[in-house]
Amino acid sequence: MAIRPTSQNSPLETENQGNHPSSAIPSVGIDGLSFYVPGQYLPLEELAKARDVDVGKFHTGLGQEKMAVLSPDEDIITLAAEAARPLLTDIDLSSLDAVILATESGVDQSKAGAIYIHGLLDLPSSCKAFEVKQACCSSTAALQMALATVTLKPTKRILVIASDVARYGILSAGEPTQGAGAVAIMVSANPRLIAMDPEDGSYTRDVMDFWRPNYRDEALVDGKYSIKIYLEALENAFQSYQNESGRSIDDLYRFCYHLPFTRMGEKAHSFLHKKFGAGKPETFKQIEDSGIYNRQIGNCYTAALYLAITSLLENEAEDLSGKRIGLFSYGSGCMGTFFSGKVQAGYRDHLLTHQHQALLASREPLSIESYERMYQHALPIDGEEFQNPQHARGKFRLAGIEAHRRIYTADGPDHIPSITASAAELVEA
Ligand code: COA
Repeated sequence: MAIRPTSQNSPLETENQGNHPSSAIPSVGIDGLSFYVPGQYLPLEELAKARDVDVGKFHTGLGQEKMAVLSPDEDIITLAAEAARPLLTDIDLSSLDAVILATESGVDQSKAGAIYIHGLLDLPSSCKAFEVKQACCSSTAALQMALATVTLKPTKRILVIASDVARYGILSAGEPTQGAGAVAIMVSANPRLIAMDPEDGSYTRDVMDFWRPNYRDEALVDGKYSIKIYLEALENAFQSYQNESGRSIDDLYRFCYHLPFTRMGEKAHSFLHKKFGAGKPETFKQIEDSGIYNRQIGNCYTAALYLAITSLLENEAEDLSGKRIGLFSYGSGCMGTFFSGKVQAGYRDHLLTHQHQALLASREPLSIESYERMYQHALPIDGEEFQNPQHARGKFRLAGIEAHRRIYTADGPDHIPSITASAAELVEA
């Protein structure tokens, strides 16, 4: 396969980004988007039956249909490495400046998960690797860090990977809003998908709406309060964005929100219009397509907003070339950032739409008993030697634990449509 140079144009070629002094800097943004999800899911009808809840609550009240469930031999590292693979096939790896992992399901207090990923993907030793954290919005902090670096060094690329497993506990209120998945985001100059605007607006406040102490592997959450604080962060972050950019709601053609469950996007969109819409009601067409994938996967924390962006670009029938989309990232605790970007001409030629749809269509449904069994799978914490049974469908596996070390391998079955089949084969299938 031909190696594509970092940029087909001069790296310092500029894009007119509006009336901001930013017009003097190169266009930087998202050049590729790839996601990965485990090979099985729990249909929420099954959960509703088992918990004696009307399924309308999950389908309509929360806007969720399926919940991705992790295999015993998968974790955020294997999900992240699988998500990144398709973005590495046609680039010169020596242009990769860094791989940044954003997660709130970290596997080690010291060693960055990005180093394991660096090893599994056989990245060059000149490529940095580190991990960032702030609940669900560290992926946006990582993206912004990457944009700044690529602005300074336009011949370089940065791979940001958001990977998480949302766990609230069996029988908890958060149970139907669990999920798992990873989104890999390639950042470059002259991006093929979205050129990011330099303006943003952020809001940070020390609150306890959701957190996970080091001794727990399930999050603690005050669900109703987290929705209230999400909206508080949205209002303040949008106000700052508006002040900095001079743009209003009417300058944004589509919106993607952080989606812990897709109904949250509707709540956020209505709220934003009530506050800033000058009396005009919201149009749900503006968010409809961004929720399609999240509805089938569930919450994947840091990856949720980037899954929504992928869903919008891959499912919206209208050509979005040249349109500006508004983006809201929220991380409990809390920090929220509102930012935006312009969809690039020809973006559809660079999406992995068929591969992603095949990845979702080839998953297996689980019974409630299998879900509960998989959920309760735990690794030893005393250093005891342990081998995971083969279950994951991907190439990368968490094979086990030896002397407190996580052992990853690249010897899985690799039954992944996004890697093994061409788009044409997937369409025929
Ligand atoms: N048909 C249709 N809708 C129904 C329904 C039915 N049979 N039964 C309930 N609903 C609706 C409710 O009216 C409610 O809608 P509303 O939000 O417009 O009021 C919605 O379903 C949820 O019901 P609710 O009783 O509020 O659910 P809950 O107490 O079980 O908690 C969460 C919902 C989201 C708070 C909970 O799942 C949670 O804590 N999740 C994790 C945290 C999270 O995702 N936070 C988000 C911000 S980061």
